[in-house]
Amino acid sequence: MFIVIEGIDGCGKSTQARLLFEWLMENGHDVLLTAEPTRNRIGIFIREILSGSEKADPKTLALLFTADRYEHLENEVSPALSDGKIVISERYFHSTIAYQSAQGVSREWLNDLNYFVLKPGLTILLDVKPEIAIKRIKRTETNEIFENRDFLEKVHKEYLRFDDVKRVDANPRPEIVFDEIKEIVSELI
Ligand code: TYD
Repeated sequence: MFIVIEGIDGCGKSTQARLLFEWLMENGHDVLLTAEPTRNRIGIFIREILSGSEKADPKTLALLFTADRYEHLENEVSPALSDGKIVISERYFHSTIAYQSAQGVSREWLNDLNYFVLKPGLTILLDVKPEIAIKRIKRTETNEIFENRDFLEKVHKEYLRFDDVKRVDANPRPEIVFDEIKEIVSELI
């Protein structure tokens, strides 16, 4: 079972992924919790671009995120699924479609680029208002290039165009959001 958690920066995805991981483990499942961009070589280069210390145009960035994804899928996600694990990934191909289309790349180009991906069994979209997300980001004091209100408004709109995701209202407190996630996941496992 392959579960993906998606949403704009500050949507609470890391918190929810961690809660889901712990809950599934407590219930006796073998689980891999993973994320994109990865901590591998391409992921490390991507982080340099996100921090502003390297520049890349949006299509180059899409290619890098997708190359990172290919390696993630081949070396980590697929082997874990073959071992019978539940895989939870923070972000996957919907992130490239939403963020890089918000940067002006066509969705068709991005979809074509990602033709190889294994489709997840469930993609949860944590839908949070950009103004709430930006407040959450300010608290953590990270400073990546996409973490500004106008850009996140665009990404948010792009996320709402997907029809292959399960939308969860992520504006309330984390426990309330997690109750809804538990309900959705319980029906599938
Ligand atoms: P993020 O999930 O915020 O990582 P972390 O919490 O470790 O900083 O991802 C970093 C940024 O990368 C985030 O702004 C979303 C962006 N991103 C893309 O633009 N395209 C992609 O394909 C992916 C996977 C992420």
